[in-house]
Amino acid sequence: MAKPVNCLVLPLLAALVVVLLPSSSKAQPPPPPKSPLEVLLRWKQSLANQSILSSWVNHAHDIKNSSTPSSTSSPCNNWLGITCNKAGNVTGIDLPHKGLQGTLELLDFTYFPDLLHLDLKLNRLTGTIPPNIGVPSKLEFLDLSTNSFTGSLPLSLANLTKVIELDLSRNSITGELDPRLFPNGSSPGTTGLVNLQRLLLQDTMLGGQLPSQLGNLKHLTILALDNNNFSGQIPTSLGNLINISYLRLNQNQFFGQIPRNFGNLSKLTNLNLFANQLSGSVPKEIGNLSSLETLHFTQNKFTGHLPQQVCRGHKLVNFTAAHNFFTGPIPVSLKNCTTLFRVRLEYNQLTGDLDHDFGVYPNLNYIDLSHNQLQGKLSSEWAQCQNVTLLKIAGNMIGGEIPDTIVELDQLVVLDLSSNKLSGKIPAQVGKLSKLSSLSLKDNKIMGQIPSGIGGLTDLTYLDLSINRLTGSIPDRIGDCIRLLFLSLSTNGLNGSIPLEIGYLLGLQTLLDLSYNSLSGQITPQLGKLTKLETLNLSHNIFSGSIPNALGEMISLSTVDFSFNDLVGPLPNGKAFKLSAPQAFANNKNLCGEVQGLRPCNTSFPKSGRQKTRHSHQIIIIVTSVLGSLFLMLLVLGITTLYRQGNRRNLKEDESPLKPENIFSVWNFDGKILYEDIITATEDFNDAFCIGVGGTARVYKAELPSGQLVAVKRLSSAKESMEVEDVGSFANEIATLAEIRHRNIVKLYGFCCHERHTFLVCELVERGSLESVLSSEKEAKELDWSKRMKVVEGVAHALSYLHHNCVPPIIHRDISSKNVLLTAELEAKVSDFGIARFLKPASSNWTTVAGTYGYIAPELSYTMAMTEKCDVYSFGVLALEVLMGSHPGTLISNLTSLVDQGIQLKDVLDPRLSPPTTQKIADELTSIVNLALWCLRADPKSRPTMHVASELLEMHAGDD
Ligand SMILES: *[C@@H]1O[C@H](CO)[C@@H](O)[C@H](O)[C@H]1NC(C)=O
Ligand SMILES: *[C@@H]1O[C@H](CO)[C@@H](O)[C@H](O)[C@H]1NC(C)=O
Ligand SMILES: *[C@@H]1O[C@H](CO)[C@@H](O)[C@H](O)[C@H]1NC(C)=O
Ligand SMILES: *[C@@H]1O[C@H](CO)[C@@H](O)[C@H](O)[C@H]1NC(C)=O
Repeated sequence: MAKPVNCLVLPLLAALVVVLLPSSSKAQPPPPPKSPLEVLLRWKQSLANQSILSSWVNHAHDIKNSSTPSSTSSPCNNWLGITCNKAGNVTGIDLPHKGLQGTLELLDFTYFPDLLHLDLKLNRLTGTIPPNIGVPSKLEFLDLSTNSFTGSLPLSLANLTKVIELDLSRNSITGELDPRLFPNGSSPGTTGLVNLQRLLLQDTMLGGQLPSQLGNLKHLTILALDNNNFSGQIPTSLGNLINISYLRLNQNQFFGQIPRNFGNLSKLTNLNLFANQLSGSVPKEIGNLSSLETLHFTQNKFTGHLPQQVCRGHKLVNFTAAHNFFTGPIPVSLKNCTTLFRVRLEYNQLTGDLDHDFGVYPNLNYIDLSHNQLQGKLSSEWAQCQNVTLLKIAGNMIGGEIPDTIVELDQLVVLDLSSNKLSGKIPAQVGKLSKLSSLSLKDNKIMGQIPSGIGGLTDLTYLDLSINRLTGSIPDRIGDCIRLLFLSLSTNGLNGSIPLEIGYLLGLQTLLDLSYNSLSGQITPQLGKLTKLETLNLSHNIFSGSIPNALGEMISLSTVDFSFNDLVGPLPNGKAFKLSAPQAFANNKNLCGEVQGLRPCNTSFPKSGRQKTRHSHQIIIIVTSVLGSLFLMLLVLGITTLYRQGNRRNLKEDESPLKPENIFSVWNFDGKILYEDIITATEDFNDAFCIGVGGTARVYKAELPSGQLVAVKRLSSAKESMEVEDVGSFANEIATLAEIRHRNIVKLYGFCCHERHTFLVCELVERGSLESVLSSEKEAKELDWSKRMKVVEGVAHALSYLHHNCVPPIIHRDISSKNVLLTAELEAKVSDFGIARFLKPASSNWTTVAGTYGYIAPELSYTMAMTEKCDVYSFGVLALEVLMGSHPGTLISNLTSLVDQGIQLKDVLDPRLSPPTTQKIADELTSIVNLALWCLRADPKSRPTMHVASELLEMHAGDD
């Protein structure tokens, strides 16, 4: 019945192939190859998967009798990727993006003296770049980018004097740039990469100072050294690269000033310096660069004024200078700079006037001016920036009203005007901003009612109108904003009751904050539907009546605040009510419950008791109907041997005796686990055995009769959320997952579906979740830097295994610190893989994203295509979390919205641990941060695969 898992089968096949190879090849080293043909065939043999090279065959073998076989067969006969000249010599080996897996060890370049073109980019090649790469001295084009090459750059590259383009980017190359690779200033034209026009070394692990000889590459038009570990000053000699048009030095550790002679680089179109330690003022000569299209200064330590003539050439498209110490005015040349597409000047001390210093930008897509000292008003002219998707001017001194015309910005996705001095009303037509996903007007002086048109914002995920002067009631149509994850209306003058429609906001997750208003009446039981909500604040209002029992069903709720109201009666059940601090209920009329500071409830509230029985009755009926569906499904599948028809009429009885035939189960366990054993061991899921509660399950510890300890995960929401098809595929999926064996993956022993309980049985992992270890001061300290690196590495291995060694690949879908468990030795084990998608509510008519808020790849808000790259993103979040000791939170939201961001190591290390004591550990941590940033790229295609990620990590750990 179960789909076979090929994870185990593949390695087996590989082993078989090895055994079947002719034994003679083992006895003595093979003789040297006789021809380029033989070299290519031997290299092909060394690759893991050669099927793509099926055209590479030695036809000479077909005519064995021929006395000179090599003369009749040649790689020039339509071999994939091989090109030759008229004389029959190989001139090109071009195999980009072919899934090649192996090393270049056997590709002996001494056999290809006429090679002009070598392109192996985007494969899975490992090992070092061989020293004989320098032999084919006619080579003009060399591209080994996006592989997993390690080691340093071979000095023999200096022999490639004809090379025009050298691209080794996105590899794990280490070491420094040897000055001898470049032309020597005193005898130019003799050695070194003298003809180089394009040098691409971005996203590697190269470091050290840049040799001044780089400035002798007279023909250079592109120099990309970004996202490496280069340090020191930027050599002044780079100002001699008079042909340069792209200069990318971003995301390194360069310090000092920008050389003044950069003003001579008249062909420069792209100058990218963000995320370094550069300081001083930017030379005003930069304003001479009239070809500039892209200029990035973000995240350095620059002071002084911005160059006033940045847009002198009227070509500037992307300009960022955020997170520096710039002072003074907005560059005057920006007013007329109609080419602008993306502008980021946030977090400086720029002064100026919003309506005078800016113009109309028909192409503008993104502008962030937040956290400066801008004054003036938001003029109605901004409405003419018709293509703007993000407009942030938070944290300035903008006054006046929000112009009504702003609603014409129909491409707007993010609008943040928070912490200014805006007055007037929210434009009544705000609902026309149909693409708006995030709206913050927090902390202004906005008056009037919340317009009911707000219901038109059906894509809104984040709404913050707190700390204003809003009055009137909360419009019913708020319930149309069905994608909301975050809603704060706190600290206004709102009155009336909470509209019932709030219950439609099923996605609300982070926060619902209605505190500090004048809301009144009963709290609506509709809130109980918000089962994803984590924080609920209703404090400082005039709510009366009791807290509805339905709120006990908000299974994700962890923090509540009901203080300063007029509430009475017992607290609902539910962990948020049990675990909240007493202050959360303080200053009410007459609340009771088992919380410190409240009086215990006496029996004078019969209402709650009655409700409770009804409630448990409902659950039984739901379980019954879902199990009925499961039962039918299995019949359809013909799995009658596993689940023989039982007497389903029994199911209505709560305490029906256990009948083996009512149990459907899948086991993959060397011993035997019986349903009854689990029930006995947990005393029928007694809370005393509960070791954890999650959004979809409660986890119990059970000791089997054999003495073995296992974790039993009792699914709570499977019952209400699974569709019929889901149940069948769920069973299949579980059977598949139960066969997976990997050191860093929690073993799933099986599952069991009975009318009373549906549960999974897994390996017990002693220390619990990474989340809980990181949140405890003591345990977090025990998890020192080297253990944390091991945790990150373990998770990477697990995901790489699920993605690349399983057929079909398994996508985890919900990587978070809750789903990574730690053993007694603090080794990581990934749990809950593959089942996340079965546990989402199926009731809503819009698709819900599986996964945990804060770890979800950004593309999932636009597309439902869950790919491996979504796991890669979540892994990136997790890796940062492990180093930081807590979820990276706002750092991530900055990252995702601000594509060009980089981070310094010191900013991300958990302050509870002392800083790394050796350079080696610091370097390794840096490489994890760099890897995490790579994983967090907005474009899924530009994230690494988990295979690449785990190899990078392994390589670093392997240095020990
Ligand atoms: C080209 O190949 C021929 C034989 O195929 C060989 O004799 C000749 O030396 C090669 N030319 C060069 C420049 O290597
Ligand atoms: C590079 O060229 C020099 C001189 O031409 C030679 O001595 C050296 O062996 C070459 N290196 C390689 C790896 O081909
Ligand atoms: C400007 O930035 C956008 C988004 O980051 C990018 O797609 C575009 O290629 C950039 N344009 C230039 C000229 O750099
Ligand atoms: C803006 O551009 C126009 C024409 O391109 C020019 O006449 C005007 O002086 C410019 N204004 C500023 C402030 O640069």
